[in-house]
Amino acid sequence: MFKNKNLVTQYSRAEEELIAFRKNHLGKSLSLSYEKPLHIVRGEGAYLIDTEGRKYLDTVNNVAHVGHEHPKVVAAGQKQMALLNTNTRYLHEEIIAYSEALLKKLPKELSVLHIVNSGSEANELALRMAKACTGQRDMLAIEVGYHGNTNAVIEVSSYKFDGKGGKGKPADTHILPLPDPYRGRHIGENSGADYANYARKHIQHLKIVDEEIAGFISECIISCGGQIVPPKNYFKAVYKHVREAGGICIADEVQTGFGRMGKSFWAFELFDVIPDIVTMGKPAGNGHPIAIVACTKEVAEKFSNGMEFFNTFGGNPVSCAIGRTVLEVIEEENLQQNALEVGEFLKAELEELQLEFPIIGDVRGEGLFLGFELNTSEKEPLAAHASYLANRMKSLGVLMSTDGPDYNVLKIKPPMVFSKENAKELMYRLKTVFAEDFMMHY
Ligand SMILES: Cc1ncc(COP(=O)(O)O)c(C=O)c1O
Repeated sequence: MFKNKNLVTQYSRAEEELIAFRKNHLGKSLSLSYEKPLHIVRGEGAYLIDTEGRKYLDTVNNVAHVGHEHPKVVAAGQKQMALLNTNTRYLHEEIIAYSEALLKKLPKELSVLHIVNSGSEANELALRMAKACTGQRDMLAIEVGYHGNTNAVIEVSSYKFDGKGGKGKPADTHILPLPDPYRGRHIGENSGADYANYARKHIQHLKIVDEEIAGFISECIISCGGQIVPPKNYFKAVYKHVREAGGICIADEVQTGFGRMGKSFWAFELFDVIPDIVTMGKPAGNGHPIAIVACTKEVAEKFSNGMEFFNTFGGNPVSCAIGRTVLEVIEEENLQQNALEVGEFLKAELEELQLEFPIIGDVRGEGLFLGFELNTSEKEPLAAHASYLANRMKSLGVLMSTDGPDYNVLKIKPPMVFSKENAKELMYRLKTVFAEDFMMHY
């Protein structure tokens, strides 16, 4: 099954030694997944492989978008790396070829790109743009949203400032309740206008004290919120309120973009809106650090006030060759269609499992961006059960992650090469664990 069998490397350090070094010499806030951490040394397709050669089905990694170490992407990077890697102050065809390919995937309104190095940097730039365009500072963002690790983006990431070690919301950030139609403040598919109304109220309050907003930033499926799919008309209504107040709408597609939704290439398309700025990252380089900010001509014009935008690494030929190849592979291997078909199959299987095990309170998501949450019949979240499930699945060779404000949501966002066979393997293991004693007691 694995093509790179010959790539054998010596691993001389024991896991305890690696852990001890990390504890002593790497940033104290780095975390490790699972009660007993994994030592992964290779990846291929939808699998990760540890030092013992044990393979794990990966349902977590939406960065290795076209599959771990996809040979064509690896070759594109190696080839360009051997030729030239430099900044954008020289003419080079790769940045043009990549931009042309990416622009074909975007609505014509989003016609200007800035290429950067991480999702955080993309959102940081998007915030600068919104502030430059409007001359304002105040941002609307969603409860439990996450947009990256730098100063300005932490300030719009409730997941962080409302979480462990956080100091709460900054004065110029205004938080909209998580538009969760299953367990949120308003229930049901028709709750979009009710949720959007909070945006209108914040804008009105600001007007009373003579303030305006710079904009609104959100993912269209809120991943750290626990794969929350807002009601269909939510974004249309929020965008309307924001634009009427002169604000800029930013869609964070760092997790959701590049065909993962199945039905569409971008998550914002599912909600029939066109943002003023779209940020992309994780999957764009299949693990290589490349991220992008796409914006309208109008935003780009207003942002360009004479101050040079220089970026040492952003838009370099190696990153662009890799990014272009990722787009090619998505097309060649029909991965958006695969996300649609396998995603729908998996969702139907999970819904069937839900009938058998009512501890599964809700199954949601689009394409290969799914989640299910574990609850009591009174919708009380079952975080310990979610953690048990993820750790037990790991022991059976399937990697899963938990998230959401109550840590009771299992997320499924595998590499897009995840096949029907992979989905069956996942379901087989899930059925095994759900039938175990711990999962039956709640
Ligand atoms: C939705 C979203 N936006 C932005 C980021 C930040 O991206 P990066 O870690 O590449 O800086 C992340 C990272 O997890 C993310 O999930």
